[in-house]
Amino acid sequence: MVKCMCGIIGCLLDNKRAAPVLLNCVKKLEYRGYDSVGIATSSSDIKIKKDSGKIDDVHKNLDLDDLPGDMGIAHVRWATHGLPTKENAHPQTDCKDNIAVVHNGIIENYKELKDQLIGEGHQFKSETDTEVIPHLIEKYVEMGNNLESATRLAIGDIKGSYAIAAICRDEPNKVVGARKESPLIVGKGENEYFIASDAPAILEHTNKVIYLEDHEMVVLSEEGIEIKDIKGNVIKKEIFTIDWTPDMAEKGGYAHFMLKEIHEQPEAVKKTLLGESEIKKMVKKFPDFNRVCFVACGTSFHASLIGKYLFENLVGIPTDVSLASEFEYSADTLDEKTLVIFITQSGETADTLKALRLVNHMAKTLAIVNVLGSTVTREAEYVIYTRAGPEIGVAATKTYVSQLACIYLLAIYMSGKMELMEKLQNIPEYMETALQKEELIKEIAQKYKDSRDFFFIGRGFSFPTAMEGALKLKEITYIHGEGYAAGELKHGPLALIDEGVPVVAVTPPGKSHDKTLSNVEEVKARGAHVIGLGSSEDGVLKYEVHDMIEFEDEIDEMFSSMPYVIPLQLLSYYISVMKSIDPDKPKNLAKCVTVE
Ligand code: M6R
Repeated sequence: MVKCMCGIIGCLLDNKRAAPVLLNCVKKLEYRGYDSVGIATSSSDIKIKKDSGKIDDVHKNLDLDDLPGDMGIAHVRWATHGLPTKENAHPQTDCKDNIAVVHNGIIENYKELKDQLIGEGHQFKSETDTEVIPHLIEKYVEMGNNLESATRLAIGDIKGSYAIAAICRDEPNKVVGARKESPLIVGKGENEYFIASDAPAILEHTNKVIYLEDHEMVVLSEEGIEIKDIKGNVIKKEIFTIDWTPDMAEKGGYAHFMLKEIHEQPEAVKKTLLGESEIKKMVKKFPDFNRVCFVACGTSFHASLIGKYLFENLVGIPTDVSLASEFEYSADTLDEKTLVIFITQSGETADTLKALRLVNHMAKTLAIVNVLGSTVTREAEYVIYTRAGPEIGVAATKTYVSQLACIYLLAIYMSGKMELMEKLQNIPEYMETALQKEELIKEIAQKYKDSRDFFFIGRGFSFPTAMEGALKLKEITYIHGEGYAAGELKHGPLALIDEGVPVVAVTPPGKSHDKTLSNVEEVKARGAHVIGLGSSEDGVLKYEVHDMIEFEDEIDEMFSSMPYVIPLQLLSYYISVMKSIDPDKPKNLAKCVTVE
C-alpha cells in the first residue's frame, strides 16, 4: 500500500490562472513530502501534470505552471510504502479522467473497495490507496449526484484518515474538500478561495483561515466558501486571522531554512517568553496536581525530558515522560490529579494526537503547540502557544527552544520560584553568543564530517541535550549518532569507543560536571576525540578535550539546554551541507508525521 503524509492544495481564483499559484503554494508544503508532485486544473477538461521527484526538478521537466484554468488542485507526496512513481503521484483520477483528487492520509479499507470497484468495471492505474476515491466519486456521479454529494457518499465508504480536494470536469467552478484525522484549512482571500494542509502554504494570498474539524466538508465556488457537516447541513465557522507574514516562510538570504531557523532562535525564545502572563493566569486556575506526565515524539520528546528534570527539581512533583507512540501501552494509571502535557510543534502528529484522545476525560490535558488552530489545540483542555513562527526545515530547531521556554515558564510559575525569572530572561542573550561560534563549529564539522559514528554524552539536564544533538546528526547527516547518559557508557557502549571516534561532551557547570568529566577521561583513554561544550572558565575541561566550544560561566546546567543545543544544531547543519545533503529535506522524513 502507498501511505502518504503529503501536502494538498486547492484553489478557485478570480480570472487568474491557477497553475502558477498552485505551484507556488505547493512549494511551501514541500517540507511535508518531497518524493512526487502533481497539479490538476480544470477549464474545458481536466489537465494534469505530475511526476516523481522534487518539485523544482519536476517543474524543470514539465513546466508545472503551464496549465490553463482558474481553479485546480495540487499535491506533494511522501510515501512510506510503494514506489514514488509518476503513476502513484497525485492527482489520482477516475476511469475517464473527469474527476481528479489529491489526498493526505491512509484509506485503510482501500483493498476491498478497489476489488469491489474493479468488479464493477473500474480500471485502476496506480498502486495508491487514494485512487479508490476518484473511482467512488465517479460511481456516485454516474448515479446522478453532483460532485459535492458524490464526494460525501464516497467518504462515507472510506475507513481511515483523509484530507482531500476533488474537482470534476462537469462542474468547472467547484473545488470540494473534506477532512478526517488529517489537517485541512480553508483560506478566504478577495474573491479567491483556498484549501490547504496548512496556513504557510497560502499566506501569500490570505491570512484569513478557517480550521476544518473531522467529518466537515467545504465547497469552494463562485458564490464563496460553504462549510457543511457530513449530512450536508451548512455550518458557521469562525474565521481566524493569522499573524504570521509570508516572508516568515521564506529563506531571507540564508542558504537553507534550517540555518535561518537556527539563527531565529533567540528571537523565538524572547517572543515565547512574552506569553508569561497567559501562563501565569493558566497556572492560577490549575487544580492541585500530584503528578505530571509529558507525552511527545522526537525533538519534542527531548524537550519533555528537560521538563522532567525541571518539574522534579523546581516544582517537586513526580514527573514521567512517555513517547507518544508507546503511551497507549501504559496509560491507565492516570487520574484527575495528573496533568498530562503534550508537546508538539505541528499539533498534528498522529501518535501524540492518539495519546491525547486516550487521556482526555481521564486526566487534565495541556498542549504546548506552535501551530495555531491545529488539531491538538482543539482537543486539549489547556493550550500554550510557542511563538516560533513557521518552521519549514524538517529538523526542529526554533520550535524546540520555544517549547523549552514554555516549559521553563510553566515550571517557574508552578513552583512559585519567581527569582529564577531573571535567569530565564537572560537566555536569549546567551543564545546570541552561542550563534557567534559558527566559524569554529564549521572547522569542527570539517574535521569530523567523515566519521562513521558520533557519541553525545551528558548527565542530568545535559542528557536530553546530548540526545537532541544525536537526533539532529542522524536526521540531516545520515551519520550514526548516539545520545547517551554519560554514566551509562561503561555499561555497554564504551565497547564502541575506538581511536578517533568523536565524543561530544555536554559539560556545563553544575552538579553533574565533575562526573561527566570522569566519563570524558574514560573515553579519551580509549582513543576518543572529545569535543567539549562547557564554561569558558572551565580550565580542566579545556585541558582534557580536543576541541572546545565555550559558553558564559553564568550558564549553569539547569539553564543550559537552550544555548548549549545551538552548537549541536550547527554542527549537524554544516556536516550535512559538507556532505551535499539538503538539510531542509532529509531523506525518508517529513515535517508533520500524520501516520502512526
Ligand atoms: O510536530 P511534533 O513536534 O509533534 O513532531 C514530533 C517529531 O516528529 C519531531 O520533533 C521530529 O523528531 C523532528 N523533526 C526532529 O528534528
